[in-house]
Order: sequence, then C-alpha cells, then structure tokens
Amino acid sequence: MADKFYITTPLYYVNASPHIGHSYTCIAADTLARHMRHVIGEKNVWFLTGTDEHGQKIQKAADAQGLSPLVFADNTVGQFKKLWEVLNISYNDFIRTTEDRHKRVVARVLDILYKKGDIYQDTYQGWYCTPCETFWIESQLSEGKCPDCKRPVEKISETNYFFKLSKYQDWLVEHIKNNPDFIKPASRYEEVSRFLELNKLSDLCISRPRERLGWGIPLPFSPEHVTYVWFDALINYISAVGDFNDEGKYISRWWPADIQLMGKDILRQHAVYWPIMLRALDIAPPKLIFAHGWWMMGESKMSKSLGNVVSPIEMAHKYGTDPYRYFLLRDVPFGLDGNFSEESIIKRYNSDLANDLGNLVFRTLTMIEKYFSGNVPVMQDQHLSAQGKLIKEKLLNIEQMVISSLNVCGFSQALEEVWSLINMANKYVEDTKPWNLAKENKTEELKTFIALLAKVIRQVGKTSACFMPKTAEAIFGQIGEATINKSGPLFPRIDTK
Ligand code: ME8
Ligand code: MG
Repeated sequence: MADKFYITTPLYYVNASPHIGHSYTCIAADTLARHMRHVIGEKNVWFLTGTDEHGQKIQKAADAQGLSPLVFADNTVGQFKKLWEVLNISYNDFIRTTEDRHKRVVARVLDILYKKGDIYQDTYQGWYCTPCETFWIESQLSEGKCPDCKRPVEKISETNYFFKLSKYQDWLVEHIKNNPDFIKPASRYEEVSRFLELNKLSDLCISRPRERLGWGIPLPFSPEHVTYVWFDALINYISAVGDFNDEGKYISRWWPADIQLMGKDILRQHAVYWPIMLRALDIAPPKLIFAHGWWMMGESKMSKSLGNVVSPIEMAHKYGTDPYRYFLLRDVPFGLDGNFSEESIIKRYNSDLANDLGNLVFRTLTMIEKYFSGNVPVMQDQHLSAQGKLIKEKLLNIEQMVISSLNVCGFSQALEEVWSLINMANKYVEDTKPWNLAKENKTEELKTFIALLAKVIRQVGKTSACFMPKTAEAIFGQIGEATINKSGPLFPRIDTK
C-alpha cells in the first residue's frame, strides 16, 4: 500500500461558469481522496484542483465584459469555489495559475529548459485572422480561410519559442511500453500508443508574441513573449506541491502524482506533452493518467462552447448533493460516455436511494424502536439463519471489494457491490417476516436478525461515505452501536406524476 496519495483534477478555464462535466471530475477525485484518507490516513493524502486563467480565451471573455482579465477571473473562481463547497469537494489546495507561487515556478522551468537547450527560437510563416485574433498554420486553414469564422486570413511571419518535444519521443514510447498501467482506461492507452506510433511529434510552440496576446506569463529570456497557456497550466501540478532548489532539482513531498484525472478531451496534453516536460526537467512522470468519458447532451458533448450546459449547483439544490454525486458515479462506468438527463437522476434516486437504501434504514429503525425500545440488540451467531450467514459473509468482504474496485477507479462497480449487500438485506427482511418471529416469541432469532441488519447499515454507511459523505453521517447519526435516533426517511420519494 502506498504511503502517500497525490491526486489532481485539471485546472478548469475561467472563461465561463462550471457545468456538470467539471463537477464530474471533481466528484470522482473527491471520492478517491476521501477513500484514501480512510485507508492511509488524512495527512498522507493531497488533493489538488484549481483554475487555468491565462491565454486568449480568458482575455477575450474579459474584454467582452469590459473587465480586466484578473477581475473577470476572480469572479469565475468564486463560482467554482462556491460549487465545490456545495458539492462537498474536500480539496487540500486550490491553485490559480495567476498566483505568484505558480508564475515563479513556470519562469524557473522555462529558464532551466532554455539553458539546457530544450527551448529554442524560430521564425516561421503563418496566417492571421484579425477578427478572431488567432494565428493559424497553413495546415489548419479551411479552404485557405480561418477555420473558425471562415473569413480571409493574412500572411504574417512570427518569431516564437519552441520546446523540443521531438527529442523525447523515443523515451516516451519506451516509457509507455514499459508501463502498461500508465494510462487508463486501456482504450486510452491504445489511443496514445497508436498516436505516437503513427506520428512524428513536432516541437511545441510555447510562446505567443505579447503584442497579440498580453495575458500570460512572460518568458524570462524574452519579455516580448508570453507563455503558451497549456505549457503554463500543466506546470501547476508541480508548482502547487514543491519547488526547485538552487541546483535546479525539484523537491516535493507529494510528487509524483499517484493519479491525474481528466476528461478524454485533454488526454494528449497530459499523456504526451506533460510527461515529456517532466522528463526534460529530470522529474518523474505521474504514476497514472486516467481520462474519463464525457457527459453528453443527446449527440454532443456538454460544453460551454456549444452552450448546452446544465448547472451542477441547480442539480444539487434540486436533488441533493449526495444523490447528485451518487448518480454521476453510479450511472456510467468511469471511462465511458454517458447521457445526461434529469429523468435518469430521478430514476436512480427513487430506485436505489429511496427504495433500496432509504427503505432498509427506515424499516430497520422502525423495528428497533418497536421491538427493542430503541436499543440495538446484540448479535449471536448461533441464532443466524442460513440467509443471515450469507449476509454476514458479504458484510465481512464488502470493504475489501470496494477497495479493489476503487483501486482501478471502478466507482460504479464499488457501488454495485454495496447495493448488492443492501438488496440482500432487504430480501432478508421480506423472507424472514420478522413480525412472525415476534408473534411466535422467537426473541433470540429476532434480536440477531435485527442486529445483523443494523450492522449491514453501518457497514453501508462506512463503505459509501466517500461517495455520499453527508448521507453516511446521517446514517451514523440515526443508528449508533447501541442506540438509535430515528428521524424521517433519508430520501423521500420524488413524485414523478
Ligand atoms: O481543458 N464530460 O479546461 P476546461 C465530462 N484548462 N467531463 C467534462 C466535460 C464533459 N462534457 N466537459 C468538461 C481545460 N469536463 C484546461 C485544462 S489542465 C492543466 C488544463 C471536465 O475548463 C473534464 O475533466 O475545458 C475535462 O477534461 C475538463 O473538464 C476540461 O475543462
Ligand atoms: Mg474544454
């Protein structure tokens, strides 16, 4: 078992408000972080998220509102932080790329790579779309016009700085080959391997002339240029948790990351650019890059540029934070795309939460109240039925099964395991008919039966706490080791008529 666990999410752009896709990655990361805090201890887990604030996208969005980019960014950062609070995202650190601690490390990285000869200057020809303020290379044009707005472009020549990606391609190919668990899921591993097999990497243009884009981190060796936003942003994963010493060696309590989560839209940057940047700096690559699937609206990815987004804050207010977290991680196996709809949230809510879990808790508490005046009876194995024995066995195994699933980001499998225990327990109630045990004065059997249900519920609370932290608290608040404190149902049914 690892002695420390460092997990990251992407740094989200601040050009628009957060949507369900952003909340998905943070909820998944939060669940793993909570789980690992339980397994290896609070102080050994570091969970980083944050915001990506430089570059043209942000500059334009700020211009459109007549605000300075930083004031504009402050506003969106507030929305992200508010959302993470509502969703119970237990990050340890929130980094903004506009912070000094980050800008300092970016400048240091640039300086080290420039001195090493891995960054060089080049002048090249390209095409400029004045209305879009975008520079295109020949191959990006669409019928000789701007691929975005289809208007004519102007030929210009530009001097920029390039990072020698190509120099490290062979190393990366080897690294990926020798580390079959470096990129997950397997389909993404294949995708990156194939890409590297079929393409010779070009060096990466890591600067923009300040005169056409002012909003960025200046290159230390050429103040007339600012850093390309991706080169800047990726560095956050190390700038947040360490620093370079005088000899240029990077020192960190947390790096290498144990897992870096993101959507499949930005796999290339994380699985190709990023490991190469680290290699050039003589820093170990992350242990695992996991690129999950997309939440879709019909046929299209939910995205701010398409304008088909749903507000996660609204969903959490409408259905509750925990049901919302549960739905996202239960409905779609992590790695695959999913279709978002409120009908499917309601379906999951009513069946899994209200019917299965909520009902089990409620009926068990009712029986403890009715038959034992609110005292949780003690279990005696000799009074367990055959069915009871099977449940007890499952109860003892469940934690290990959840750990094994979460070790491979199997959120939905972990929840399926927990729910199979819940369903076994509900069936146990229906098959046992406790009211008959009571009528027939089979008190010992009844005690053991109810004691086992109480244990199941507490175990469900324990194993699902990383998914639904508030619900686990509510369960433990209602059903203690010895006594209960019954209140209303955990998940009142949503009426769909
Ligand atoms: O790409 N389904 O930021 P971004 C699932 N700043 N996840 C989604 C999603 C969807 N429909 N839409 C977004 C950037 N996401 C860069 C990252 S990292 C150094 C820089 C999630 O605001 C998913 O994690 O476009 C995706 O990778 C990320 O948001 C992109 O956020
Ligand atoms: Mg995006």
